[in-house]
Amino acid sequence: MTLRGRGPRRGNSLSNLGIIEDGALLVRDGVIAAIGTRAHVEALPEARAAEKLELGGRVALPGFVDSHTHLIHAASRAEEYELKIEGASYEEIARKGGILNSVKKLRAATSEALKKRATEALKKFAGYGTTTVEAKSGYGLDVASELKILKLHKELAAEQTLEIVSTFLGAHVVPAEFRGKAAGAEKYIALLTEKLIPEVASQKLAEFCDVFCDRGAFTRAQSKEILEAGKKFGMAPRLHAEQLSRTGAAKLAVELGAASCDHLEQVNKSDIRALGKSKTVATLLPGCDFHLGSQEYAPARELIDAGAIVALATDYNPGTSPTLSMPMILSLACTQLRMTPAEAIAAATINAAHALRREKNIGSLEVGKQADIAVFEVADYREIPYYFGVDHCWMTVKRGRVIHVPKESPI
Ligand code: NIG
Ligand code: FE
Repeated sequence: MTLRGRGPRRGNSLSNLGIIEDGALLVRDGVIAAIGTRAHVEALPEARAAEKLELGGRVALPGFVDSHTHLIHAASRAEEYELKIEGASYEEIARKGGILNSVKKLRAATSEALKKRATEALKKFAGYGTTTVEAKSGYGLDVASELKILKLHKELAAEQTLEIVSTFLGAHVVPAEFRGKAAGAEKYIALLTEKLIPEVASQKLAEFCDVFCDRGAFTRAQSKEILEAGKKFGMAPRLHAEQLSRTGAAKLAVELGAASCDHLEQVNKSDIRALGKSKTVATLLPGCDFHLGSQEYAPARELIDAGAIVALATDYNPGTSPTLSMPMILSLACTQLRMTPAEAIAAATINAAHALRREKNIGSLEVGKQADIAVFEVADYREIPYYFGVDHCWMTVKRGRVIHVPKESPI
């Protein structure tokens, strides 16, 4: 599946996979030099001298682009999982623990311990066919701890095989030490806009600036102020929008020309229309609703019909979506969001590449793009989401290098 074509996928074009039967591609210096049928590619003079990797008729597609993760965190929150099952809501838990619980643990953790945990996670991402991972800070919420996370993004990007796109999410929630004080939130926002954002920008630690705009986090007006400060310092905006309550965050994302707005469970018709006309990607995170046991999935079909650029991501994080499996997200997209397997695959590759503004290099298998490839041990691409919770990724290739190796088929 090449996912070739121009521009992001909207409406019907979300189903075009650009399938080549019995296909092959030629890689030079980590970049795709030719792609077509096996007969065509093997006849190229350059192909004769090339090292050959036989995929044995399996299904090959662009590596998944996971455009929304909270990669760096110190520990799981399995204890809250049990509380949720017993009936506590995410917001009830958030008042006593939740994100603040993860902040406490992260501040106490060493860089080495965080790096070890993230490195293990990245290996697993690769094992599920993911080749690019966006990573947000947001469990530090003070100058030293936020910088600790963002520096780890940079180190990990340099040292391990997956591509990491760094996002500053200092505006995840107001940290405990600023709460219950006069103008506490305003003081924290001033710390973000006057100190942290300039510092992150001067050390070139993040490409994007994100805000959790929701009940219990930041208001629309506060989000605007923070994202505009980020923009001034060269960080493109993206937003956690309309997850728990409708705040107007999706429209704010459109107004600011954000790269993406993510979650969108609570969008209304007018938000859907606005996203349909905009270049801001609508990134859906069905893993959250699944993990929280919620029936309120985002209206994917309406967004697609309105012409929105729909993408899918894991939202890998300890509070709402502890999964790093894009194939599992595809399964949820199919059964819960009513997206077809083809639509889900396009949303998790080419449209997700647009959400990270990396579409020139990743997201499809085309000449000139990076050779980022996921190979699945299936007979038909639809079997990737069909076999839910079963790992069929057979090989993962990043910039032409095999980073996850063949293994026995699980079926
Ligand atoms: O994307 N919504 C905000 N942030 C995360 C959850 C973070 C957490 O609970 O630790 C999310 O769902
Ligand atoms: Fe998130």
